[in-house]
Amino acid sequence: MQVVTNIKGLVQVLPASVRKVCGKDMQDLKVLKNAFLLFDKGRIVDYGSMKKWAEMAADYGRIKEIDATGRFVFPSFCDSHTHIVYAGSREIEYNDKIRGLSYEEIAKRGGGILNSVDRLRQASENELFDSAWERLQEMCAYGTGAAEIKSGYGLDLKSEMKMLRVIARLKEKSPLTIKANFLGAHAVPREYIGRQTQYVDLIVKEMIPAIGKEKLADFVDVFCDKGFFTIKDTERILEAGARYGMRPKIHANELALSGGIQVGVKYKALSVDHLEYVGKKEIEALLGGDTMPTVLPGAAFFLGMSLSPVREMMAAGLPVAMASDFNPGSSPSGNMQFVMSLACVRYRMYPEEAVHATTINTACAMGVSDVLGSISKGKKANFFITKEIPTYEYMPYSFGNNKVEKVFLNGKQVR
Ligand code: NIG
Ligand code: FE
Repeated sequence: MQVVTNIKGLVQVLPASVRKVCGKDMQDLKVLKNAFLLFDKGRIVDYGSMKKWAEMAADYGRIKEIDATGRFVFPSFCDSHTHIVYAGSREIEYNDKIRGLSYEEIAKRGGGILNSVDRLRQASENELFDSAWERLQEMCAYGTGAAEIKSGYGLDLKSEMKMLRVIARLKEKSPLTIKANFLGAHAVPREYIGRQTQYVDLIVKEMIPAIGKEKLADFVDVFCDKGFFTIKDTERILEAGARYGMRPKIHANELALSGGIQVGVKYKALSVDHLEYVGKKEIEALLGGDTMPTVLPGAAFFLGMSLSPVREMMAAGLPVAMASDFNPGSSPSGNMQFVMSLACVRYRMYPEEAVHATTINTACAMGVSDVLGSISKGKKANFFITKEIPTYEYMPYSFGNNKVEKVFLNGKQVR
């Protein structure tokens, strides 16, 4: 049994039954002042005011106490969309972009997803593990306690399995809660250019059964967008994934009103992600289902894209989740505190909404909001203690700086 005491503000206290927070409710954030947090065997046991703790403390005898005077406690961020298993980096492409080269020109110079594919195919499983581990450590230092990690830089059976084995090892070794997502349909590999349907055949007939048999993927993903995979490709892949229990989480509407959102809702996807292009029909489709609309502010920032209409979505009653999209091409950062800042500055979300978007709603987007995403009795004791800060709004306000001082995952201090 351990207790955090004198917490200036215990942020995101919710009843354990809440799975997501929608629409106007996202403006309400419960923050307990001058609070305690009691946890045992990896789970949250109780919380409340210091006055209540003074009355209870004697019942617990001498237990380990962590004093959080002047500090806030937040539930760990859930980062429901990342691509952290990759080899090398792509700052050359970044440089080219700044100098005004088009996407096509960049691709010709070896840029884009296929650049990462070339490097990943050459990398050993150990090299990939070590670099992904470092990224995970950094994410953890910034307050992330759960992550969904995608494959999708292998694009052949052997290399996709290699990526998924790396993710399986991360799952086993890391105290973070990790979910694996098979993204064979990230791009058409060089050897299949001009033969997209045959590549989808390979995914459906060989990759998914092999991966499914070894239970290497919790989820299945498709980059369903203009110039990438079609609705028909997506349906085939999601149906094949469903046969092996892989829930869909898909990349949709980053480049156009592609129908990706609708197909996600139709196949009961946990989430549809990116969403730069959202109109009335898309909002209606989302209102008719249980799929979490997920925005990736880091990618939109890095690529200078138009912004997802999150205020409209929330006004319509929808929940919104926000994840990092940590990847070498469009979002080389897993800093969820910065995601919160982008949410507020660029998307005009209120700090309260940004907290919901990065905790309970992303937990929902990765199917773990029964055990993560809020300070609730019985949930995993995954939380962080901030440095001394004046208010919870200081979190998004003080952008780029790490305000996290101590991290607890499964009830154990890991940083
Ligand atoms: O989520 N949109 C597709 N995929 C990635 C980009 C991956 C890359 O460029 O390597 C994304 O932004
Ligand atoms: Fe992505």
